[in-house]
Amino acid sequence: MKSLVTRLRAFATAASLVALLALSACGGGSDSPADPTSANPAPPATTGASALAWQTVGRMGPGVNFGNMMEPPQEGDWGLKVEQSYITAAWQAGFRTIRLPVRWSNHAEPAFPYTIDPVFMARVESVVDAMLAQGFHVVLNMHHHRQLDGDPLDPGEFAVSESDLEPRFVGLWSQIARRFALKSERLLFELYNEPHGRLTAQSWNALAATTLQTVRISNPQRLVLISPVSYGNTSALGTLAMPNDRNLLATFHHYEPFTFTHQGATWIPTPPPVGTPCCNAEQLSQIESAITHAKAWSDVTGYPIFMGEFGANSMADMASRVAYTRAVRTAANARQIAWAYWEFAAVFGVYDPVAGQFRPELTAALLAP
Ligand code: BGC
Repeated sequence: MKSLVTRLRAFATAASLVALLALSACGGGSDSPADPTSANPAPPATTGASALAWQTVGRMGPGVNFGNMMEPPQEGDWGLKVEQSYITAAWQAGFRTIRLPVRWSNHAEPAFPYTIDPVFMARVESVVDAMLAQGFHVVLNMHHHRQLDGDPLDPGEFAVSESDLEPRFVGLWSQIARRFALKSERLLFELYNEPHGRLTAQSWNALAATTLQTVRISNPQRLVLISPVSYGNTSALGTLAMPNDRNLLATFHHYEPFTFTHQGATWIPTPPPVGTPCCNAEQLSQIESAITHAKAWSDVTGYPIFMGEFGANSMADMASRVAYTRAVRTAANARQIAWAYWEFAAVFGVYDPVAGQFRPELTAALLAP
């Protein structure tokens, strides 16, 4: 079972989004900031991404998250482990990118030098190697570092001292980066999943910049993804200060309309009620507007943007999930935004691990022409 996560997703008004983009466009703003609705958000950098970054998003193709596998407190705690048969099946179905969520924080020493458990490191490396060998682009991230967001810890987790918290985050990335430094350029790093809570825009921008500098010591060229705060919501993109580095992508998560995608979600404290269908005109407009906003941010800043998660809980009816999935995919593809569906074989799953086969309607919504 997952712990309860407070998923306060920020929604900025259309007016504030336009204002944020206008600020970015003229390089305005100050380095104050935190709040996406603030009048003075941190300005996105204007250096823009390298040809490598743009070519890579062009090649990433349809993606899927191997979620609920390596990001529980221990692999298998939430009912799934990474299997070679899943990797093969995902490739044969037509997926070309796997986002691999990993909870590193529970597998390392609490104190300096924060050594990652060698058995766990080797397991993650073997999984990444298998995915790369299959031909996938792989987005390897850090996921569910509960203390970093100020969330309650999951059962089986431990806290570290407040003074070690951020140095340890950087120290974990230093080890991960060194371990994976010689891998194919089809491996991308994503610094952190859905920063929120204790991580304000200001503190996250600073931590991400420091972490990137550390990653760059061993991986001078590797593509790195950075999410805005507010759980990666597009409303916070205007507060994301991309470090001065061209081999970067931004990433966002898209769960609008939330009352549809998260109906009956047991891992949030007050889930929306089950029974909401999709997609009427208002819902379609919500789907479009987040993606339009992400594209506008990308156009202004010159960085590609990756939609790292979208999907609908299986408590929703299948016909609606199919309509939703096709609508999001179509809107993203129309704007050349690469994406990864949340997720492979758990509660949003495109694949039924018991039957050992894909759910045909959802798979078609993601992959059929
Ligand atoms: C979280 C998952 C959750 C999903 C949808 C992800 O970012 O890691 O635990 O199921 O979002 O809410």
